[in-house]
Amino acid sequence: MSEEKSAHYSVTWQEEEYIHPPNDFVGQANLTDPKIFERFSLENFPECFKEFADLLDWDQYWHTTLDTSDAPCWKWFVGGKINASYNCVDRHLDKYKNKTAIHFVPEPEDEPIVHLTYQDLYRRVNETAAVLRDFAGLKAGDRVTLHLPMTPELPITMLACARLGVIHSQVFAGFSGQACGERIWDSESRVLITIDSYYRSGKLLDHKAIGDVAVEVAKKEGQDVDKVLVWRRYPGKYSSAAPVVEGRDFFMDELLKEYRGKTVEPVSMPAEDILFLMYTSGSTGRPKGAQHSIGGYLAYVTWMSKNIQDIHPEDVYWCMADIGWITGHSFIVYGPLACAASSVIYEGVPTYPDAGRIWRIAEELDVNIFHTSPTAIRQLRKAGPDEPEKYNYDFKHMTTVGEPIEPAVWRWYYDVVGKKKAAIVDTWWQTETGGFLCSTVPGLAPMKPGSAGPGVPGIHPVIFDDEGNEIPAGAGKAGNICIKNPWPGLMQTIWKDRDRFVSTYYGKYNTNPDSKDWRDWPYMAGDAAVLAKDGYVRILGRVDDVINVAGHRLGTKEIESAALTVQEVAEAAVIAAKDEIKGVVPDLYVALKPGFEASDELAAKISQAVSTVVGKIARPRSVHIVPDMPKTRSGKIMRRILASISNQTEVGDVTSLANPDVVELILKKVQG
Ligand code: WT7
Repeated sequence: MSEEKSAHYSVTWQEEEYIHPPNDFVGQANLTDPKIFERFSLENFPECFKEFADLLDWDQYWHTTLDTSDAPCWKWFVGGKINASYNCVDRHLDKYKNKTAIHFVPEPEDEPIVHLTYQDLYRRVNETAAVLRDFAGLKAGDRVTLHLPMTPELPITMLACARLGVIHSQVFAGFSGQACGERIWDSESRVLITIDSYYRSGKLLDHKAIGDVAVEVAKKEGQDVDKVLVWRRYPGKYSSAAPVVEGRDFFMDELLKEYRGKTVEPVSMPAEDILFLMYTSGSTGRPKGAQHSIGGYLAYVTWMSKNIQDIHPEDVYWCMADIGWITGHSFIVYGPLACAASSVIYEGVPTYPDAGRIWRIAEELDVNIFHTSPTAIRQLRKAGPDEPEKYNYDFKHMTTVGEPIEPAVWRWYYDVVGKKKAAIVDTWWQTETGGFLCSTVPGLAPMKPGSAGPGVPGIHPVIFDDEGNEIPAGAGKAGNICIKNPWPGLMQTIWKDRDRFVSTYYGKYNTNPDSKDWRDWPYMAGDAAVLAKDGYVRILGRVDDVINVAGHRLGTKEIESAALTVQEVAEAAVIAAKDEIKGVVPDLYVALKPGFEASDELAAKISQAVSTVVGKIARPRSVHIVPDMPKTRSGKIMRRILASISNQTEVGDVTSLANPDVVELILKKVQG
């Protein structure tokens, strides 16, 4: 049975009822003008995006909104000159000098929260930029690899790079030395910026040692790193067992002593130059460096932060993602700071030391905008379903991002976390897209649990079948979701690999590779989706997440969602198990909410629920009730590992997981 990558299949998903955003929210929302979609209609493309660019301060105003001459590598706001660091820091000093820019919450609860004002941020970004320029010799266009965890030094270093026009490539701190080294090599960085240690789950982890491996790996590949700049979690005190390499490794806190009070003029950069690279995994081969521009990207995330995240400068905004992912770049650092918000950075794991931690932080800091992923929501619901009500905080707005959210989980988020007072946006987008593609506009449109919503203003989605025919809204058929038009936040290309960029995102639906007309280049996201009659998009998951059982294509999310209708179930993951007769069959893993015990009756009940909700064809081969799901450090369930367990193949290296020990337990349970 083939497991071809196709998104075209029928869906049997029941439509959910609308829920209207609370009046208090709508009353204060930034965007409530119903004419917005008219202003951003395709007739007004691309000039409508001037509204995005006008949220920024330009050193030199641009002359061409969109240049298509190198299609599909679009150029936005051509002729403009701008500095991203200036827009996120300097321009706020007049009005907000003494307002908090960053609230840093260390994981150990007895370490005080650090409040950095915009003035503090200005000083630290300038001094850091001085070190990067005058000590490390970095200049505009150079690449530098950052391998930093969630402390303020990460956004400070990013903004210092941006100030100089230096291209940062931040590698998620949970990634191994091998992964970091490959990215140093691909980006040709000769400087690595890291930290000695940081806290996760109550332990001070040795991080510098991983940087040493990364430098070795990069060297073997052919890229020499001549300077490693090391922040210290506790300035003045080195908390790592790794040796300090003479002439290569330098402590940032020591270097900075020479640069006290130093200011660095923001370098005026062409809008189309590169702000950063963000590596993301493709389906095969080496990671792709998504290349994001300065002007277009910053304009895009600023508009989205203001209008979809509804950020006002008075707001305390907390996005729980890691800055090592695109969500953190766009919606912890660049977007919120360009809007002069106070942005929260939390170092550790959400459930440390207990399931109330997140809500205590929210209460203490008066967080009123909260942003996280379905995985984190499921985790928090599992660890402490009644915790939120014990704390006195009020969210006006909440976001879910990263995966489809099951309606049952959405309802817990809305009722319990949001206390029925917060508008929710389910934002669908990707590393490649810079910012949101589909979401409701929270002050304008009702929410529908489990659906992301229509295209955001300026984004025009379309669903194609495999032959390139448009699947009409309300047809009840899934297909490949594409975006008809370019937009300023879209990556410019894959770093050093234009061919891969063109073939991955445009290869399937572009019919004239020489065309300079943007209409010939729909962007293919690689997700399967269904479009309801009302224009709301429901994302079913990556095209590769489709399971083809005896010729019937099933979305893993449909099955997982069905399992989650069973009250005892906290998390569910479906994988394709090899089957002699049917090719593959779904195998279901579930974790229970606290207080529930695994039993054969419960497994049968879950299996029955899948049959009832999706159909007999989707009935799992077995229901494995496991203590926890194997997860990455960013919280994604590692379905690949579950699949190897079901299929009795080599599980491989699990040391980079957040919970490697659980793999052994699941193996015993499933394979005996
Ligand atoms: C993939 C992109 C978006 C930034 C974080 C992840 C899935 C993302 C949603 C959503 C359903 C979603 C898609 C997409 N995804 N948001 N709201 N509903 N699925 O970025 O690592 O580049 O992953 O995440 O499958 O293609 P990423």
